[in-house]
Amino acid sequence: MADRVPRQRRRPVRSYVLRKGRVTEAQSRALQDLTTVYGLACDGPPIDAEAEFERPAPLVVEIGFGNGEATWRMAAAEPDKNFIGIEVHAPGVGQLMMALEKHQLSNVRVARCDAVSFLHDRLQPNSISEIRIFFPDPWPKKRHHKRRIIQPEFLSLLETRLEPGGFVHIATDWTPYMEHICEVFTSAPAFTGKDSSAAESRRPATKYEQRGQRLGHPIVDLVYCYRAGQESSG
Ligand SMILES: C[S@@+](CC[C@H](N)C(=O)[O-])C[C@H]1O[C@@H](n2cnc3c(N)ncnc32)[C@H](O)[C@@H]1O
Repeated sequence: MADRVPRQRRRPVRSYVLRKGRVTEAQSRALQDLTTVYGLACDGPPIDAEAEFERPAPLVVEIGFGNGEATWRMAAAEPDKNFIGIEVHAPGVGQLMMALEKHQLSNVRVARCDAVSFLHDRLQPNSISEIRIFFPDPWPKKRHHKRRIIQPEFLSLLETRLEPGGFVHIATDWTPYMEHICEVFTSAPAFTGKDSSAAESRRPATKYEQRGQRLGHPIVDLVYCYRAGQESSG
């Protein structure tokens, strides 16, 4: 009897495509020299943030920071918070590490990982006070909508990692994605929409925001508060 060939496991749908993107010499040096200072591994036990940052402080997680310009600016402007930035794109990770060294910021750690796996594997339940996602890839084609990071399953994961009363702040320049985000959050009883004006004024401009503005896209900030005890059933 022929051996049973194990059925190939379906690859999970990712919210990104790993682009080749040129890594400059300076970024490459930062990746090599500064990963031991600022980097967090993708694998391993859940991180004890208080031990990692050597202080208790609210934890802000930024997903998909791009070139990290907004990340270091927020960390400089909000020194009383600890930040973890997650990005898969190597040049951006190197760029952010360079900025952290230049501006002598000690309240940021950087993970070059898939944010979904990182949140699941390395962040503790009830540990995040705020999740910031600025200009997530909109995946405009209908057949790619499944790649959008904001999905009901992703919100279920956020519910387990956010502290009660924690926030999710998302900015987008793509109106159909904004409608999708509103729909997904409205269907999640654990989240309530909040006035976004304070968060909006605190958010530094990002590269993708500037691109959206050049294209004449309206920029929208959305803020949701997590209410423990109202978790989604599935
Ligand atoms: C459109 S760019 C926005 C970058 C930046 N926030 C800005 O506004 O300039 C989206 C970024 O999210 C990153 N990204 C998408 N899905 C991700 C994931 N699951 N984990 C980590 N990074 C992700 C991409 O690599 C990309 O750099």
